[in-house]
Amino acid sequence: MRPRSQTARLAAAVLDNLNSAPDIVPRHVDCIVGARPNFVKIAPIIRALREQDGLAVRLIHTGQHYDITMNAVFFEELDIPDADINLEVGSGTGTEQTARIMLGLEPVLLARRPDLVLVVGDVNSTMAAALVAAKLNIPIAHVEAGLRSFDRTMPEEINRLVTDRLADLLFVTERRGIDNLIKEGLRPERVKFVGNVMIDTVCACLDRAVPARKTLAEVGANADFINAAMETGFGFVTLHRPSNVDDPVKLKMLVEALVDVARKIRLVFPLHPRTRAKIVDAGLDRLHGESGIVTTSPLSYLRALGLMREAKLAITDSGGVQEETTALGVPCLTVRDNTERPATVEEGTNLLVGTSALMPAVEDIIAAGGKAGRIPALWDGKAAIRIAHDVCAFLNVEQGCARSIRHRPETDPLESSTCG
Ligand code: UD1
Repeated sequence: MRPRSQTARLAAAVLDNLNSAPDIVPRHVDCIVGARPNFVKIAPIIRALREQDGLAVRLIHTGQHYDITMNAVFFEELDIPDADINLEVGSGTGTEQTARIMLGLEPVLLARRPDLVLVVGDVNSTMAAALVAAKLNIPIAHVEAGLRSFDRTMPEEINRLVTDRLADLLFVTERRGIDNLIKEGLRPERVKFVGNVMIDTVCACLDRAVPARKTLAEVGANADFINAAMETGFGFVTLHRPSNVDDPVKLKMLVEALVDVARKIRLVFPLHPRTRAKIVDAGLDRLHGESGIVTTSPLSYLRALGLMREAKLAITDSGGVQEETTALGVPCLTVRDNTERPATVEEGTNLLVGTSALMPAVEDIIAAGGKAGRIPALWDGKAAIRIAHDVCAFLNVEQGCARSIRHRPETDPLESSTCG
């Protein structure tokens, strides 16, 4: 028999070992992306999650967006690791896309049974992935929860409603999102106000944004256009919502309004594939010949960010551009009747305008500089860190998470500033 003191020493050593170096069994998180705005959102999240020893993170791409300009370029510029799995669903109606994603994703989730499925935004891939996870009883985290346009003709609104209903962790970008979720009866303890990961990406990329002059030269703008744009300012235009571009009559009105605006200020208009196709179908190709407008293929993130930062104004129907211009302090005219992102209007630089109100709003910006805004609370470049903190807590792996995220960064909303 060992002497008593030796046994005690052994026991103490075992205990010591247990206390100091607990074996961490990582919990599995599957992050799902599919479309261009998802890539911008997932970049900081995947980085923050993969830094945690307590988490084993996979990236699954549905393949909703597949063109190099809508997909690969974003992975490269935003330093997103290659997807572990690509379902390659491609284009189709919303229902076709949703069905194909569900069929493709089910076996993938069944094979690994992750502890959490994380989805971002409001695209078809977001809702389809949430449905599959819910049916397999896998908890769901939704980043950008609670946004509501209250317009069910938008495919994204249906995606938001369904995804939030099914989610266990609801990561909210602006205060109104919390109110919407509580009104819909969702449990407050599931709702986490973390700020805006879109702005994390703006902050991470501003230094690398491509100067506007360089991009304009690359896309073939002539010297007169570039000089005028640099001297008197230019507008950055993006339009792709079905409600604006699918109806040829509405599209014609919009194109005519842009042609008028271009007589006052040069416009740079990267065309989403949907918009390009609809412009051709509607016989509106003359847009390309207008001297005040430069149309381009979809631009990379760093080029779009560089143009937005230097623009005098933006004209858009994109959710992301509404938020990015608010963060950059650039006046934004949103060609829609509503927005699911009210902070951009109530606090930021955004104004909702109908087609007929576009010209007076542009003239006002040219004459008076447009609406000044402030940065909404927690749009400070730290949203992904808060998300990683909350995911670690939800999965009970705090001890496997980096010291830097154990304390959730809280900012006094009154002191919140971009990239703070
Ligand atoms: C999707 C999102 C929208 C988001 C937008 C950003 C939904 C319901 N909508 O709209 O919220 O703002 O992405 O871009 O999920 N196409 C290509 N190449 C591609 C992808 C699409 O040519 O890589 C063309 C196809 O003709 C396709 C059309 O664009 O039919 C529309 O693509 P789709 O994924 O259905 O929706 P988006 O309009 O891109």
